[in-house]
Formats: sequence, C-alpha cells, structure tokens
Amino acid sequence: MTRIRVLGAGIIGLSVADELARRGHRVQIVDPAPGSGASYAAAGMLSPGGEFWHGEEELTRLGRESLALWPEYAARLGVPLHTGGTVLAGVDAADAQQVDRHLAALTDAGVPATPLSRADLRDREPCLGRVTRGAWLPDERSVDPRQVLAALLSRHQVQPSAAGEVDTTVVATGATLPAPFPHLVRGVRGEIIRVRSDDPPRGTVRGWVRGQPVYLVPRRPRDGTAEVVIGATSEEHDAAAEVTVEGVRRLLEAAGELAPGLDRATFVEAIARDRPGTPDNLPLIGPSGRPDVLLAAGHYRHGVLLAPLTARLIADHVDRGVLEPAVDPQRFETPGAA
Ligand code: GLY
Repeated sequence: MTRIRVLGAGIIGLSVADELARRGHRVQIVDPAPGSGASYAAAGMLSPGGEFWHGEEELTRLGRESLALWPEYAARLGVPLHTGGTVLAGVDAADAQQVDRHLAALTDAGVPATPLSRADLRDREPCLGRVTRGAWLPDERSVDPRQVLAALLSRHQVQPSAAGEVDTTVVATGATLPAPFPHLVRGVRGEIIRVRSDDPPRGTVRGWVRGQPVYLVPRRPRDGTAEVVIGATSEEHDAAAEVTVEGVRRLLEAAGELAPGLDRATFVEAIARDRPGTPDNLPLIGPSGRPDVLLAAGHYRHGVLLAPLTARLIADHVDRGVLEPAVDPQRFETPGAA
C-alpha cells in the first residue's frame, strides 16, 4: 500500500485515483475546483480514428487500446456509452480529398474504416446536408464527460489543498503544470458549443466544411432531451481561455452547412478551455525525473479517450514499475532527470 497524492480532479486525475484506490492504495485527491477544467468542456469523443492526424500512429495505437477499455470502465461507473460509430464527411471537392486522405491514413494505421457512397451516407446519417464524400468508422463511441466526472466525484472525496505526508505524488493538472514542469505542456484553446436539437446525428460526425474542420457529437442528458456538441476550435496563444464571437461563428456556420437541421436547434452553452498539448502530442505518463513524482498529463485532444489506459499505466507503474516507452515523460528534458 502506497500513500499517493493526486493533484488534479479532472477526468485523468480522478480515473487515476479511482484505479489506485481500487488496488488498495491510500489516495488523497487535491483540486480547488474539481471537475471544472478541460474535462468539463470536452465533447467526450472516444474516437482515435476520427481524431487521427498524420504522423500520430503511436497515439492512435494507444487510443485504440484505451477505447477497448471503455465499455467495462463505463459499466463500472454506471455511465452510458454512445455506440454510434463515427462518420467522416466532406462538403466541397477539397474537403472530399481530405476525407480520402484521412481514410487512406487510417487504413495504413490498421484502423477499421470503410468508404461510404452518398446513398450510404444519407442512410447512416440522415441529418447531413450536401456532403460529397464520406467514410464510416464502426468501432468508435462517445461518452458524456460530465456524467463520468459526476460518477467519479460521487465515489471520491477531493480536498482543496494538500495535507499530510505521502510517498508519491501524481501530477494530473491538465494544461497548467506546477513547477518545475510547466514547460512540458502548452495550452491549445478549444471552444465548444452545445445545442438542443430535434435532428441530432446518430453517431459522431467528423466533418470538413470548405476547409473548416468541425465535429458533431450526439449527447443524451439524463433529462431525456437530445443535444449535440459542436466542436471545436483550436488556437495556440497565451490569452485566457474565453469564448470568442469568431470561434462561435465559425463553428455554427460549419455545423449548419454540414447538418442543416441544426439551424432549428436551441442554444444551450458555449465554453472554452485549454487542451494540454505536448511537443509530440503524446501524453506524459510515468516518472517525472523526480523520484517521488509521476506525471499523468499532456493528453491534448484525447483526455477522455485515454483516461482508463492512463489510470492503468500509472497504477501498473506504482505496483510493478511498468513503463510504456511511447509516453515516458523523460523523452523530454524533465527536471531532475539524469
Ligand atoms: N477531442 C476533441 C477536441 O479536442 O476537440
């Protein structure tokens, strides 16, 4: 039994704490504002293929590994998974080429994905408007991160500040790491919109609309209504993570062209948070270079997806010294490393 302090009560910190507690460790979770960071804004895409970017094959491998853990994890937390897959959709000729490139890269990476004819596209996602090219990723899912946060917070107490002695600290504070680690992540702002709609997509839609990337994620709040999460902008700068008129306009225009029924939707919320990006976009999971400090950070666009795998990796490291080389924080210069 190890005494462990987890700094950060977002989906990563809480999932790590939950797994460590399940394995019999004594866990203290510290966060002055639990569950209010990037996890609170996240769309909840369990979408390693839809979120694939060229050169990120390792991330896709880890994402698929974590996706496979989600059904059991969600069942244990009592949170429903949305199992509708992901449709890739392109609007104009250049967007269609983007779909083709994405599909080819997924095929190379071994991700199950098939092209869809226009008729198949309409059958699979009747909400879509004039879309010229599509593909289907059947394995993908989504989850409501706020339901996950609520389930985890109902199981674990979080305190606003650290107290007492511990053997190990796990840093899981998202885009703002404490000293001496801040240089390991950068904030990449994402703005996201939630609307209530009578014509939601059946599954996740990852679209390109005249060059503008946009995704639609269906969500069923517990009150039985149908919502759609529309995301997300991606901006790298030091300003505060605030919703901008430009960001909202871009997302709504793209979403409305992709799925015209969204023009009838009612507005619920717009929110902005910083994603924690690392130099290679892979997370930092494991020893920090300081003997008593582990990192569970830098999850960039994949915090919700990678939560159960991160929890397992950290707990396996605590129990048996296991380290996944692809996410070893010491691939970068970390303070205290030899
Ligand atoms: N994974 C969704 C996003 O980062 O916007």
